[in-house]
Amino acid sequence: MSFVYNLLVVLHLLGMAALVGGWAAFAWRGHDTVELMAWGARAQLVTGLLLVGLAESVSSLGQDLNHTKIGVKLVVAIAALACIEIGRARGRRGGRSNRGLVMAAGGLGVLNVLVAALWS
Ligand code: HEM
Repeated sequence: MSFVYNLLVVLHLLGMAALVGGWAAFAWRGHDTVELMAWGARAQLVTGLLLVGLAESVSSLGQDLNHTKIGVKLVVAIAALACIEIGRARGRRGGRSNRGLVMAAGGLGVLNVLVAALWS
């Protein structure tokens, strides 16, 4: 089971790379990477929830999650996903994705990296 958990961590980190990497490309090079960011944000939510479910139900994994930290990450991840989905939908209706919302989604992704890494 620890292999499955570690695999989910890998997918979680790839989702983070898609969200934050897509944002960096969008911000600095003007490439439209909104689709990549949207998939990254969705992956973060799904893999994050699966990680929590597994950590809480399989005691042999030895994971002792900080629930306050997880709660904060969940709220920030939902906000990031909402921003990118709305920004993307506006782009689909004509014209370009909403730059402010896309930038906010990337910033929230970075905030979650900081929470994940610095909150012990
Ligand atoms: C934009 C959204 C997110 C980003 C950028 C993000 C980032 C990260 C990173 C960088 C790690 C590795 C940290 C380490 O191993 O020290 C991690 C681990 C983890 N994340 Fe996330 N995460 C996000 C959303 C979520 C959500 C929504 C949940 C659950 C509701 C979640 C649950 C977890 C868990 C359980 C781990 C492994 C245990 C831990 O180290 O705390 N994450 N996340």
